[in-house]
Amino acid sequence: MKDRKKEHVEIVRSKDVSHSYNYWDDFILLHNALPEINMDEIDMGTKLFGKQLNMPLIIAGMTGGFEEAIKINEELAKVAEKYGIGMGVGSQRAGLKDRSVEESYSVIKKYKIPLKIANIGAPQLLEWEDAAEKANEAIKMINADVLAIHLNFLQEVIQPEGERNAKGCIKKIAEVSASITKPTIVKETGAGISIETAEKLLDTDIVGIDVGGAGGTSFAAVEAYRAAMRGDKIQEELGKIFWDWGIPTPYCIMELAELCNDAGLTLIATGGIRHGLDVAKAIALGAHAAAAAAAFLNSESVEEKMEVFARSLKAAMFLTGCKNIEELREAEIWTL
Ligand SMILES: Cc1cc2nc3c(=O)[nH]c(=O)nc-3n(C[C@H](O)[C@H](O)[C@H](O)COP(=O)(O)O)c2cc1C
Repeated sequence: MKDRKKEHVEIVRSKDVSHSYNYWDDFILLHNALPEINMDEIDMGTKLFGKQLNMPLIIAGMTGGFEEAIKINEELAKVAEKYGIGMGVGSQRAGLKDRSVEESYSVIKKYKIPLKIANIGAPQLLEWEDAAEKANEAIKMINADVLAIHLNFLQEVIQPEGERNAKGCIKKIAEVSASITKPTIVKETGAGISIETAEKLLDTDIVGIDVGGAGGTSFAAVEAYRAAMRGDKIQEELGKIFWDWGIPTPYCIMELAELCNDAGLTLIATGGIRHGLDVAKAIALGAHAAAAAAAFLNSESVEEKMEVFARSLKAAMFLTGCKNIEELREAEIWTL
């Protein structure tokens, strides 16, 4: 498993594993030639899960579970602290199984990050009889404010050693979300969440949905490369066939915005977010925040990339005449 998490990072850093198309380019925010506001007075702050963030942004959960991940998560955590935004870690399955790799996750506790998100996969919940206990341990490991249960059946289907039994997931999510010490959200990992899936999740105690939609990192692509590395030509081809599978992130947000608002759920847009302009589009479409993974993992300097996010979000707000995030939620956005 250590190897798998390490290979994911290496593949994302060295190969092009993006979807063929980024759907955020299908949307434009309406330009305001007379914004009548002072850019210096724009407030990008927002509250998410009761925590105050300086921007509606999260570094999406990516890694942990092997030696080099200590450095990666520490670098991300430093920047999350400096910019006052949220941060998730990758699946904590490895850290729960083998305490010697716990530091690769818990290193983020050294930093004052306003919102920390623990991470466990739905397929693992099915394996564990004491799933709620394990989830609480994952929360404790990083002092998390929220637990994300990830759904990744596209990845599992391509992964040569994948877990393909999805029976009983909703029941487990309901059990865990009803009994753990912190609020729970459900997140996809690049294939998106439909309104039908979201409606099923309304019967649980989750407080938010991260749609994790298509358009950014493709886990079918990542697993196609891993299959190729093992000489498994059939799984490699399967990965290529499903490379672009999934519901595009902006469409997930449009579909789920009203449902989540009515149900009081926080809605997060992850999948293909490259900069602050994409974040602004996500908010205008109805998300409460956006998250990005590959954009940070693949940048030479996480801090410089974060500065680009901050400046481009502020520029988008200025050019649409929005003084704060509430106004950005009402900004006019067109589909091309
Ligand atoms: C190297 C890497 C590892 C990831 N591992 C996890 C994980 O363990 N748990 C999880 O919920 N999501 C994981 N993700 C998925 C991301 O959180 C995110 O949903 C996905 O990459 C789409 O965002 P992006 O297009 O900005 O990369 C991982 C992403 C990357 C790039």
